[in-house]
Formats: sequence, C-alpha cells, structure tokens
Amino acid sequence: MDSDFRHEIDSVLSSPSSSKEPQIWAISSGKGGVGKTLTTSSLAISLGRLGFSVVIIDLDLTGANIHTLFNLAPSNKNIRHFFEGTYSLSELAVPTKIPRVSYIQGFWDSWAPIDLSTEQIRSLVPKAKKMNADYVLVDLGPGATTGNLELLMLADEKIVVTTPESTSIEKTYRFIESFLCYSLKDRCLPAAYDHMIQTLREYRRNPAGKYFSFRSYLRENTGVQQDYFDGLEKKPLRLLVNSCRSQADSDLGGSMKSVCHKYYDFKLDFIGAIDYDSAAWQSARNREPVLVAQPFTPLAGQFLMTCKQLIDPGELRAVV
Ligand SMILES: Nc1ncnc2c1ncn2[C@@H]1O[C@H](COP(=O)(O)OP(=O)(O)O)[C@@H](O)[C@H]1O
Ligand SMILES: [Mg+2]
Repeated sequence: MDSDFRHEIDSVLSSPSSSKEPQIWAISSGKGGVGKTLTTSSLAISLGRLGFSVVIIDLDLTGANIHTLFNLAPSNKNIRHFFEGTYSLSELAVPTKIPRVSYIQGFWDSWAPIDLSTEQIRSLVPKAKKMNADYVLVDLGPGATTGNLELLMLADEKIVVTTPESTSIEKTYRFIESFLCYSLKDRCLPAAYDHMIQTLREYRRNPAGKYFSFRSYLRENTGVQQDYFDGLEKKPLRLLVNSCRSQADSDLGGSMKSVCHKYYDFKLDFIGAIDYDSAAWQSARNREPVLVAQPFTPLAGQFLMTCKQLIDPGELRAVV
C-alpha cells in the first residue's frame, strides 16, 4: 500500500477531526444493479470534497465491489475479520485515492454463503459509531434480508435507491413494506405482529378495497407500539431515483412519495433524482469514480445536492 495513503488514513482515523459520533448512512435497495455502489462512492466523494472524513463499509454480501470503483486491489483484511474478532473497524479501514475517504473491504474471501444476523449487525453499528470519522457510509446488498433491514433500521440516514424501471419500482415498494414490518416486529407482541401480517395479506388479495394505512392500523389495534412509526416522520426513508433519462423519470420520486402516503399513510422523503450518464459506466469500466473522471457534470452536481440535503445544516455551515 502507498505509504502516503496509509499516512493520510492514519491521520484521518486518529486526528480529533470530530469529537462527535459519526453519522451512519445506509444505502439500500429492493433490486440489485440500481446504483447503490455508485451512490455510496459518489456521496462519499462529495462529503470528502466538503471537508468531511468518511469511511465506507462495503457490506454487500452478494459481492463486494467498492474497491473496484476506487481501482484498488481487494484488501486482505476485510469485514470478515471484524465479525471474527480479529481486527477492529479502524484497523480495517484502508485509504482510497480520494482525500478523507477510506473504505473497509467487504467479504471477498468467504466461499460459504454469508448472511449476517441481527446480533452481528447490532455488534457492528455501535463500533461504527465509535470510529473517528464524520460519516460512515454502508453500501448494502440488494433486497430485504435480515442484515440489510437491521442495519437500515439502526442507521441515522436510511437511503433507498431505485431506478425508474417498473421492475425496480415494484421491488422498492415491497422493500419499503418489508422494512416497515421488520422494524415494527420488535415493537409488537408476537400475536399482534402476526395479525398485522394477516391483515396486510388481506389487503393484498383484495386490492380493490381500501388501502392499508399503517398509521390507522397501529392506532386501532392493541399490542403494537405507534411511537416508532411516528418517529420515522423525523428520520424517514429517503428515496433516491437513479438513472433518470427524462423529466417523467425525475418526477417519479414525487409520485412514489404520494403513493406511500396514500397507500400506507407513511412518509417517504424524496431526496433526489440522478441523471443517467454514460460516463458512469464508462468510468466504472476504467475503474475510476465518475465524480473524479467527470467532476463538473450534472450527475456530480446532483450527488452534491443530495449530500447537502442530508447534512445537518449546522455541520454544513461549519465547513463552507
Ligand atoms: N446514473 C447512472 N448512469 C449510468 N450508469 C449507471 C448509473 N448508475 C449506475 N450505473 C451503472 O449501473 C451499473 C450498476 O451500478 P451499481 O452502482 O454497481 O449498482 P448496485 O450497487 O445497486 O448493484 C454499473 O455499471 C454502473 O456504472
Ligand atoms: Mg453494489
């Protein structure tokens, strides 16, 4: 490893750059290949450019590839070592060529199927909160697995990426429903949870009828806590629509937000539309982050705007 890079990451991880706990942003999706890794790397680069220190954790169990986008050889020390208790997260962080941005290699030397349990995620998040960085970005794999949902639930910012394609839109709605049910599960008596799932099924089977309002359901039924659902208004799921090719695509986020409101009585926050840009896949082929290869495109501006929306305004003022 280049000693300058190592030196830089050491100084980021050990300097008192921030006395506060890092904010954890999770990047998730219902469907694979929608641009989570592009989003994670682009938000990290944007945060780095704003002067924040960032550690990316590659937690895509279907195949790590943050290192690929940053044109780095996969690190031998990887997140498997954290779960095995061999290294701390800070010891696993490797610098990228982008100032202030480092990453933790995902699983790439495990040949057995991997799934992370609730307990493993619950052990990871408090340690991530102790890292000496301003932000920890977690690049998740696709779909509503236990590990993905648990991490999303514990993250400070819960970003869901979709593309405007119907397949992705449908999987995004299923993912959102799964997230809501999963996060309510621990806040319901078991019988009340089963009843909620049965009720949801009834609504699904008879779509001509009324819409299922999570809010009304929680209010009208016993054995379930409504506080958590209400709390999601303050820290809602944030929808990012990627690979937009038309104005209609860019408007999709607003429509999906309305649908969530109408169908589930649930607040979904639409945080941005990102253009389709052939430079994105071209730079992936060249193994160079697109924001480095093409820093002044609409795509770069859209990621920066998205980033600024998620940063606490007080923090932003401190660096601008
Ligand atoms: N906005 C975009 N414009 C053009 N290509 C994109 C865009 N977003 C993602 N891609 C391409 O789509 C593919 C999948 O992106 P990736 O970030 O790896 O998705 P995921 O992490 O969700 O599987 C990559 O080849 C990437 O370069
Ligand atoms: Mg990915």
